[in-house]
Amino acid sequence: MSNTNIKPVTVKTFQKMKENNEKISMLTAYDFPTAKYIDEAGIDSILVGDSVGMTVLGYDSTINVTLDDMLTFTKAVTRAVKRALVIADMPFMTYHVSKERTIINAGKLIQAGAKAVKLEGASDFILDEVNHLVNSGINVVGHLGFTPQYINTIGGYFIQGKSYENTIKLFESAKKLQESGVFAIVLEMVPEESAKYISENLSVPTIGIGAGKYCDGQVLVIDDILGKKTDNFHLPKFVKQYANIKEVMKNAIEQYSKEVKEGSFPSLEYTFNLTKEERDKLNDCIVK
Ligand code: KIV
Repeated sequence: MSNTNIKPVTVKTFQKMKENNEKISMLTAYDFPTAKYIDEAGIDSILVGDSVGMTVLGYDSTINVTLDDMLTFTKAVTRAVKRALVIADMPFMTYHVSKERTIINAGKLIQAGAKAVKLEGASDFILDEVNHLVNSGINVVGHLGFTPQYINTIGGYFIQGKSYENTIKLFESAKKLQESGVFAIVLEMVPEESAKYISENLSVPTIGIGAGKYCDGQVLVIDDILGKKTDNFHLPKFVKQYANIKEVMKNAIEQYSKEVKEGSFPSLEYTFNLTKEERDKLNDCIVK
């Protein structure tokens, strides 16, 4: 497909897809080649998630990720993407200080090429921030249910909205986010029935991760579906692993190491050589 035939996915596309009952597909990406493959596969949206803290940077949560980190990864992803809607996570504490700081920080992610930013929670403060961003022309995605940036206050990886009362509370938060202007809401680790109720009663699409099949779209972390995770992390129940990249990588690295040690790499096939004439001259030459 030539570039001119590619119709980029926009915020309006998301809304239309919800109205037409068309599922929205989303994956995370952090680097140029992965983003390119995801885009070429026709995935609707790419999230430059702060999960990069765990998948790429080796932290044990998203808390350590900085705005500079996110800017680097967002630029790499947006350079590769022609169709998918790129959303960048606002990292921990980059939208909590003041409206001015929030706008400056979100603006940097948009200038890095993202078409929208995502932030977690729905406190009065956050709702106000969302409103301010949207009024300044910045598209915002909300994130409710399990919100990884609040790991220290939640106290662990717990399913959210597990009772009728908590489902209604979650829905009320989602409704407030919608009224503040978000164009989509990520629902993480929420029972399927609760996510269904929330999705059916919102006008903006929900994107589920561990929230069952009734959400308007689905998102997963690319490293999880490719089987790239290191031994430090267990795979959550909601992840379906579609490949085992870790095994492929480990086998290739071990084979390379073996061949270097035994001297079988590089063989002739991977070597530059002089012509016979130049080789003979070199062989005859005596070092003085
Ligand atoms: O950072 C991330 O990858 C996310 C997804 C888990 C939704 O926020």
